[in-house]
Amino acid sequence: MSTHGTIQLDVHLTGTDAGSALRADVARGLTATPKELPPKWFYDARGSDLFEQITELPEYYPFRTERALLRDSVDDIARSSGADTVVELGSGSSTKTRLLLDAFTRTGTLTRYVPQDVSESALRGALDELHDAYPDLALHGVVGDFTRDLDRLPGADPGGKRMIAFLGGTIGNLLPVPRHEFLTHVRSVLAPGEQLLLGTGLVTDVDTMIPAYDDAAGVTAEFNRNVLHVVNRELGADFDVDAFTHVAVWDADNAWIEMRLRAGRDMTVHVADLDLDVPFTAGEEIATEVSSKFRPEQIDAMLTDAGFETTRRWVDPEGRFALTLATAV
Ligand code: AVJ
Repeated sequence: MSTHGTIQLDVHLTGTDAGSALRADVARGLTATPKELPPKWFYDARGSDLFEQITELPEYYPFRTERALLRDSVDDIARSSGADTVVELGSGSSTKTRLLLDAFTRTGTLTRYVPQDVSESALRGALDELHDAYPDLALHGVVGDFTRDLDRLPGADPGGKRMIAFLGGTIGNLLPVPRHEFLTHVRSVLAPGEQLLLGTGLVTDVDTMIPAYDDAAGVTAEFNRNVLHVVNRELGADFDVDAFTHVAVWDADNAWIEMRLRAGRDMTVHVADLDLDVPFTAGEEIATEVSSKFRPEQIDAMLTDAGFETTRRWVDPEGRFALTLATAV
């Protein structure tokens, strides 16, 4: 077997970028009414580890539902797509990556894999392992933020086409306006005929959805509170983390699960690096994450609004998760 697969790694995110983005988000979010902190700051090393633990919880159905759905449909997806380059945004989960790469290899079209992630160390590790497993595949990692660095993705090979995979239901963590901007941005870096494979949680019963975000073992609560540890460490804040309780509610009008942190008593939190005092009254909440669940018509509509057309959709037998292949118009 020839082993001509090349490895390239582009780094578009520096520690300073991340630091100033955190300062700006915390300064804005903790002085807003109601208070909010964006979910991207959950994911330091401990937060990423807690998220891994969440994916193994009995209550957290989205991860394993998407993985099983991908396993069942990935040959169909590869045949419907015919892309020679698979780009994966937020390429954290290696089992899903391998399902994709194996299927696109079986259909014989794949020549290149482009994983994008915010974590340079995670990406380096993944590239080394993938090079051993797929020696003929060209690997081109991109360290960056998927909401900002999309225009830095490598272009299509001559005569080829790319499929951008955005899995995990992460699009649900974006509010409607940033979500539309994100999809429009994805569309703008593609040529007509290139594709997006989008993973989305679907609206299902509240008794299934809520425990997935409020598990009995309290792992999601720790994950949610972790953002306060991050702010304490990175910005010299003095949050008494244990004084905040985890809240997860289903907002039926917006069709999203909202996670919040509720202050257990009156207190003032000092954020040293911002020279900011943040007063809390007992019961006051910080909004930390929305996780939108979709209806199929809505997925089609948001894709159409961004300049895509739905090519095909795969849904698990219980109707909890969808994979949608869309083509840039
Ligand atoms: C990042 C989309 C996979 O919203 O379900 C898990 C993050 N938040 N538990 C989701 C999360 C609380 C998760 N995804």
